[in-house]
Amino acid sequence: MLELQQLRGGLLVALVALATLADTSSHPYSPDAHQPISIAQRNQENWLRRRADVPIPDPASRVNLFIGTTNTGHAFPGVTVPHGMIKVGMDTDSGNNHAGYDANPNTSATGFSQLHDDGTGGSVPLSLFKVWPFASCGDGDNNRFENCQTDINSRKVKRKLLADGSADDVAEPGYFASNLSTNIRVELTATKRAALHRYTFPSNSTTPRLVVDITNDGQQSNSLPIVTVDPSTGRVTGGATFAASFGPGQYRAYTCMDFKGVDFDLGPPVEYGTYLGNSPVRNLPQGIQEYTGYRSELGALLGFAQNTATGEGGTGGETGIYVRVGVSFISPERACANAEEDIPGWDFEGVRAATRRAWNELLGRVQVETEGVDDETVTLFYSSLYRTHISPADYTGENPLWNSTEPYYDSFYCNWDTFRTLYPLMSLHDPEEFARIVRGMINIQQHEGWLPECRGATAQQWIQGGSNGDPILGEFFVKYAAHAVALDVDPSALYKALLADAEDQPPNWNVQGRQANIWKTKGYIPQDVVELGGAATKQVSRGLEYAFGDFAVAQVALLLNNTADARKYAQRAGNFVNHWSPNVTVPGVDEPLIVGMMQPRFANGSFGSTDPRHCSVNDPTHSTCFLFNTNFDGFYESSPLVYSQFAPHDTAMLVELQGGNEAFIHRLDFIFDNNYFDSTDEPSQQIPYMYHYANAPGRSTQRSRQVIAEFFNTTPNGLPGNDDSGAMGSYAAFYLAGLYPVPATRQYLLSSPYFPAISFFNPLFNTTTTIRATNFAGNPASGTGGTVFVKNVTIDGVPAKSNCFLEWDVFEKGATVELTLTDDINVGCGGNGVDTLPPSLSTGGFDFV
Ligand SMILES: *[C@@H]1O[C@H](CO)[C@@H](O)[C@H](O)[C@H]1NC(C)=O
Ligand SMILES: *[C@@H]1O[C@H](CO)[C@@H](O)[C@H](O)[C@H]1NC(C)=O
Ligand SMILES: *[C@@H]1O[C@H](CO)[C@@H](O)[C@H](O)[C@H]1NC(C)=O
Ligand SMILES: *[C@@H]1O[C@H](CO)[C@@H](O)[C@H](O)[C@H]1NC(C)=O
Ligand SMILES: *[C@@H]1O[C@H](CO)[C@@H](O)[C@H](O)[C@H]1NC(C)=O
Ligand SMILES: *[C@@H]1O[C@H](CO)[C@@H](O)[C@H](O)[C@H]1NC(C)=O
Ligand SMILES: *[C@@H]1O[C@H](CO)[C@@H](O)[C@H](O)[C@H]1NC(C)=O
Ligand SMILES: *[C@@H]1O[C@H](CO)[C@@H](O)[C@H](O)[C@H]1NC(C)=O
Ligand SMILES: *[C@@H]1O[C@H](CO)[C@@H](O)[C@H](O)[C@H]1NC(C)=O
Repeated sequence: MLELQQLRGGLLVALVALATLADTSSHPYSPDAHQPISIAQRNQENWLRRRADVPIPDPASRVNLFIGTTNTGHAFPGVTVPHGMIKVGMDTDSGNNHAGYDANPNTSATGFSQLHDDGTGGSVPLSLFKVWPFASCGDGDNNRFENCQTDINSRKVKRKLLADGSADDVAEPGYFASNLSTNIRVELTATKRAALHRYTFPSNSTTPRLVVDITNDGQQSNSLPIVTVDPSTGRVTGGATFAASFGPGQYRAYTCMDFKGVDFDLGPPVEYGTYLGNSPVRNLPQGIQEYTGYRSELGALLGFAQNTATGEGGTGGETGIYVRVGVSFISPERACANAEEDIPGWDFEGVRAATRRAWNELLGRVQVETEGVDDETVTLFYSSLYRTHISPADYTGENPLWNSTEPYYDSFYCNWDTFRTLYPLMSLHDPEEFARIVRGMINIQQHEGWLPECRGATAQQWIQGGSNGDPILGEFFVKYAAHAVALDVDPSALYKALLADAEDQPPNWNVQGRQANIWKTKGYIPQDVVELGGAATKQVSRGLEYAFGDFAVAQVALLLNNTADARKYAQRAGNFVNHWSPNVTVPGVDEPLIVGMMQPRFANGSFGSTDPRHCSVNDPTHSTCFLFNTNFDGFYESSPLVYSQFAPHDTAMLVELQGGNEAFIHRLDFIFDNNYFDSTDEPSQQIPYMYHYANAPGRSTQRSRQVIAEFFNTTPNGLPGNDDSGAMGSYAAFYLAGLYPVPATRQYLLSSPYFPAISFFNPLFNTTTTIRATNFAGNPASGTGGTVFVKNVTIDGVPAKSNCFLEWDVFEKGATVELTLTDDINVGCGGNGVDTLPPSLSTGGFDFV
């Protein structure tokens, strides 16, 4: 999804158990023979063994969490376990604080809140239950409870600056820290369902105070807030109702916070109360607001005794206070229980180390050799891989909508962004979490009727295009059908969930499902049909994505031996051609080879006409092509030129429609040379690799490398646009790996990695697949030229059937893929350049007879 500034306003991870595993010890855990060990424990043990022999034993040290944390990246640099619910981090007053944080030191910190998303657009999501520290609330006698400026705009302060002018912040997997200009140091860590904050107050802070802000989520959208302080313990509980980020919904969330001294007995608060706006009221243990025209900020304020037990002469030492935070979507009691269960020992360094270990185990499954590779490329790779594993988030046990023993995941924000690359990357090295996500998606379908699409904070949000849960389930099943039952995924429930999307029209296809009825009867979405239920917009984008969704259904049907359905859906998958209008050219451009375009179509069969430049930077009308408001021309966030390249399951048909290999290559070049390629948005992601289908894989290698050189780097401004819940992270990781996935298929398009070798360890198969470039000679900085083109491929010493793609078998069984590179861009897929192309439906690919 693109950020649109004008719309602002738009496996139980046994971390605690693992915390006792010393990082350096060889094998301290001896499983009870009668107790099956958890998947997380098994994987951690595997990692302890494997990491002795791998090139990157501490991949967390190669992660730069500040990439994409200013301007429009909206990347999340705070602390989370992989796919954890709690994502604790700093919030700023930036216009780009969708993940709370902004690296720009001119912005001010406003609080340290518990839940975030990564890289989203829309309105600022989550960012709720901020904690805020005051070293003092005035000079001398004015340093009084009542004088604390508690509201968000009064209290906010800048961070300290480092010598280079950047903010004094540190972020690494498992840990975030910042020094505020008030001389307070803030440190954060987290487990899956709880956060631990550590505030270090300066020695002259006689009464260190903490605000618990109940009402300021990222949108300041709250209603019905409540807060309660227990004067004897300081425990604060509270909750409020907040607005969803990208849709009409609301959600209610609760928190529970406890306080403890760092190395001293904090005791009960010496002052406590609740506040409205900038008016803290001492000894008032409860605050409630039922808005009747007057709305003010609500929260709790606590003052604590200074730590006099440390420092010179027993007085005047810095005061450290821990805040342990639980969050729940069910109840405040559950929020307390989450915190108590996850962080019973208040062991900050233990939690931090365990979370880092969980990341190392996960990231360490992908290993790169680094000889001849600059550090920045290694950092870019592991940072991108890291961001692949922030969302969706595991909210199991926290679903307020229904009770189930199945996992519950949230922050699918949005499947339209992530189906292309994020899940196919998970397939390679993280099948167990992928399976849990799939189970969660199926469970949502069983309770809400359709698969989730753009879910956030338990609310259904706006669908961007088609029902892109379909290719995600397809991706899982194509790769793991034989292991589905072992992974607790019920194949028939998975198929039923797909059929619901494919067949049943929902009451509102703006938030779930498809405009299915007319798709089934017409094979396209007519531009001039207005139906009750959803908006009559984005018809072409939706039609093209419905076709790809049907392909995913067909793939699953085939694996279930349901050949009748497989044929039916394969046929429907071919319907993308119904939007192809053969005579359209680009206005004002003399390009005889660029004829024909995906176009809107009317119910009577004739074509509508949308300028091929529409929605691009070359659009004379400068349309944003966003959701509903301005978009009646059939396309969502990308131009007809870009959408004319979208049929991942049948690119051969696109080549044919566009006039054969030469014209196809010419069109791809035109797209790049004239700025139709949009690095900020997902529909363009596969375009650099599409030369493969015209037997010109060297050109894909070059284009994809140019994209990395031009749009991705390791600075805070190093993303071209929103990270989109890791869609951009997984995309960059694939390009650097020299691969690009075709979702819901067994094929990965092959180019050359940025490393002499890259390997993927699959913990389910217990296999490793290594792709090795035998004559690796480095990566040209400009992305152009170099010895980077693949001229020969062998798999375990046997010549591969194609130089253009790898089959899933290679990753399943574990193999060594050897690439021989050349500096000649004019390489082909091998053989006659026809039989060796990656498969397409219309040329007999995918076995639908
Ligand atoms: C911060 O503000 C200063 C002064 O206005 C400006 O010179 C500087 O470029 C800003 N820094 C960033 C990163 O925007
Ligand atoms: C903050 O200040 C402390 C103490 O001076 C220092 O050790 C630390 O490196 C600084 N930066 C961060 C982000 O913690
Ligand atoms: C504490 O000391 C700092 C300078 O070290 C000063 O800026 C601040 O005002 C002092 N705070 C109080 C409450 O005296
Ligand atoms: C889930 O079960 C609990 C305990 O029986 C019950 O209190 C709660 O209302 C149920 N939640 C839903 C959404 O049905
Ligand atoms: C489908 O048929 C194949 C070949 O007969 C068989 O190996 C496989 O187990 C079948 N799959 C299902 C889901 O029945
Ligand atoms: C495209 O042009 C051809 C040749 O001029 C013509 O026969 C055909 O009807 C046109 N198709 C459409 C959909 O306009
Ligand atoms: C088809 O429908 C469109 C839009 O309703 C209309 O403008 C066009 O004239 C119709 N074409 C024919 C051939 O009826
Ligand atoms: C995984 O494979 C390695 C050898 O590659 C072996 O040592 C180990 O025992 C295997 N683990 C399991 C759980 O089978
Ligand atoms: C590819 O490499 C293999 C192994 O080195 C070799 O046997 C084969 O002849 C090579 N093929 C081509 C086309 O160079």
